[in-house]
Amino acid sequence: MSRSGPRAAAAALLLLILQAQPSRAAPRNGSKWTYMGPNGEKSWSKKYPSCGGLLQSPIDLHSDILQYNANLGPLEFQGYNVSSSELLNLTNNGHSVKLYLHPDMYIQGLDSHRYRAIQLHLHWGDSKEPFGSEHTISGKHFAAELHIVHYNSDRYPNFSAASNQSGGLAVLAVLLERGSFNPSYDKIFSHLQHVKYKGQQVRIPGFNIEELLPEKPAEYYRYEGSLTTPPCSPTVLWTVFRNTVQVSQEQLLALETALYCTDMGDPSPIEMVNNFRQVQKFEERMVYISFQQELLTDAELSMGIILSVVLAGVLGICIVLGVAIWLFRRKKSSKKGENKGVIYKPAIKKETETLS
Ligand SMILES: *[C@@H]1O[C@H](CO)[C@@H](O)[C@H](O)[C@H]1NC(C)=O
Ligand SMILES: *[C@@H]1O[C@H](CO)[C@@H](O)[C@H](O)[C@H]1NC(C)=O
Ligand SMILES: *[C@@H]1O[C@H](CO)[C@@H](O)[C@H](O)[C@H]1NC(C)=O
Ligand SMILES: *[C@@H]1O[C@H](CO)[C@@H](O)[C@H](O)[C@H]1NC(C)=O
Ligand SMILES: *[C@@H]1O[C@H](CO)[C@@H](O)[C@H](O)[C@H]1NC(C)=O
Ligand SMILES: [Zn+2]
Repeated sequence: MSRSGPRAAAAALLLLILQAQPSRAAPRNGSKWTYMGPNGEKSWSKKYPSCGGLLQSPIDLHSDILQYNANLGPLEFQGYNVSSSELLNLTNNGHSVKLYLHPDMYIQGLDSHRYRAIQLHLHWGDSKEPFGSEHTISGKHFAAELHIVHYNSDRYPNFSAASNQSGGLAVLAVLLERGSFNPSYDKIFSHLQHVKYKGQQVRIPGFNIEELLPEKPAEYYRYEGSLTTPPCSPTVLWTVFRNTVQVSQEQLLALETALYCTDMGDPSPIEMVNNFRQVQKFEERMVYISFQQELLTDAELSMGIILSVVLAGVLGICIVLGVAIWLFRRKKSSKKGENKGVIYKPAIKKETETLS
């Protein structure tokens, strides 16, 4: 006890010096959070405490935490069909490609309030590991993920006022898989070359944003979480659609290779890849699902029982046969006594052939 006192004090002092040094040597620069490197997600919480706090997103969606909730009705998408004569701003903000949305776009049906759309953006992997979704399902990453961000416009005057209020934000998440060419997503992807570098912006014609949603949008996961980028505000009501949408290999590759996190002319350009956050701890929370998990319909259940009875039967017969053959062989070999090897083996082969 008496010896560990000074030693602990010395250790604490050393720790203090070690912690103080980096901040003196390299003053941290404002909003320069990244996904990789020293300003990567492990250090987000230094500047953005919420990132190390409660209700963090994304999460892994697995059966242990899912609960069917019959009250989760379909959402209504209002003003999502944006006329092509309206121009929308597409920008590269150094973290993702972001499309600012029309102020007349809302979702309704989350609760009694209307949530106004503000922007959408994507998260993705890289061309070698094209699995950059943020949410995972039973541990499985998808190719990419689209987020459509809304705020509670009944309660708050703008996004920034809503974003640090409980229930202030609502994000829709769509999981993207490699498959067939998707003309709707191409209304964004075909403009990526114009926003290659951070800070670049292009105006693109409006289109029906609802086309970006998967089939059966009434089937979704719902939980309370956070923004997946700093400041990680724990104020997001998440809706992750159950069904995925497909985009082609070429479209994915365009997303994975077109963009940079850095300004045009930066001497050390950084590719915009793997811009997804790792899944977060999910303790004492539930994810509510709007759909019944159809693994065990009555027909499938009885089919399953029949199949397992048949399989058990077949297995039983095999075991009995196996034991019989083994006993038969043993009897034979004991009759032939100590006689092993080349002469003996062909003989038994013939006998088993006649058995079958
Ligand atoms: C980073 O710091 C430099 C110099 O201190 C400053 O000029 C620059 O604007 C800062 N960048 C950001 C994103 O804060
Ligand atoms: C979207 O609006 C356009 C006209 O701007 C119309 O032609 C089209 O049918 C609408 N789509 C849907 C799904 O309502
Ligand atoms: C798009 O950007 C232009 C130019 O920066 C700006 O004037 C306009 O208000 C922006 N529109 C939206 C919807 O953000
Ligand atoms: C958002 O609303 C708050 C509260 O009314 C206001 O103080 C703030 O200036 C608004 N911010 C913007 C960007 O309009
Ligand atoms: C949200 O942020 C505003 C301005 O930064 C602050 O006044 C307010 O107390 C915050 N609210 C919560 C719930 O953190
Ligand atoms: Zn996002």
